[in-house]
Amino acid sequence: MTTDLEGLTALVTGGASGIGLATAHLLHARGADVAVLDIDPGGARGPLRGFVADVTDDRSVRSAVDSAADVLGGVDILVNNAGIGAAGTVEDNPDAQWHRVLDVNVLGVVRTTRAALPYLRRSTSASVVNTCSIAATAGLPHRALYSASKGAVLSLTLALAADHVREGIRVNCVNPGTVDTPWVGRLLTAAADPAAERAALEGRQPTGRLVSAEEVAAAIAYLASPAAGSVTGTALAVDGGIAGLRLRPEPNP
Ligand code: NAI
Repeated sequence: MTTDLEGLTALVTGGASGIGLATAHLLHARGADVAVLDIDPGGARGPLRGFVADVTDDRSVRSAVDSAADVLGGVDILVNNAGIGAAGTVEDNPDAQWHRVLDVNVLGVVRTTRAALPYLRRSTSASVVNTCSIAATAGLPHRALYSASKGAVLSLTLALAADHVREGIRVNCVNPGTVDTPWVGRLLTAAADPAAERAALEGRQPTGRLVSAEEVAAAIAYLASPAAGSVTGTALAVDGGIAGLRLRPEPNP
């Protein structure tokens, strides 16, 4: 394992589960000192430093970012990963749910980035990576609200990259396809036929399987690393080929 992140410090929001937890572990394994900011940081144990933070609450975010930066001695890498889902067409979700999901998924990125910027400006290897989604670039059925939130994250990533490039801060995002995390596990459990739902999700991906949290973490770690020093304002798809490939139906046996 390369130790290219030795001497760097990282904050990972939503880092107590799924993609965030895999990312926190990988950044640590590659040498970074890592703090996890989560409403329930209990899942982040061992070498990961847990801080309670609700990304919908500006005070909570500022206090956790300041405490984490204090303990770590600064912030070089910010991974904005906390997010929640929503299912339905535009007719299905009440306004309160729209406000809630946009608050977590979009304003959450705003609040954490805003709180971390003073620290990132002092870093000589500053990088922000947002967990976006394939839903930002492809029309998925029954994901109107979730897709709108991730479309905003994609645009915000580009705007942040432009605003801060001359301060030496890079900003990128990853666009995962369907990832095998506790979140997707919950979706499957709630489905009428979990096995059929899983098969449908796997079948949607040209690779024929779900993406692993570790595969998304590897992409995030790359974008966060000094090796990506010339990469800013990009969206890296980790989606089993959904975004770019157009396969013909399989021939009948
Ligand atoms: P997960 O549900 O396993 O983990 C999400 C974490 O975020 C949890 O630890 C949770 O406590 C935390 N969190 C939720 N609300 C929070 C808040 N208000 N403040 C602080 N922390 C909060 O989810 P998963 O699957 O790892 O998703 C992580 C990110 O990846 C999300 O942004 C999601 O939109 C994105 N994503 C997930 C995909 C998937 O198929 N699982 C696909 C594409 C993107």
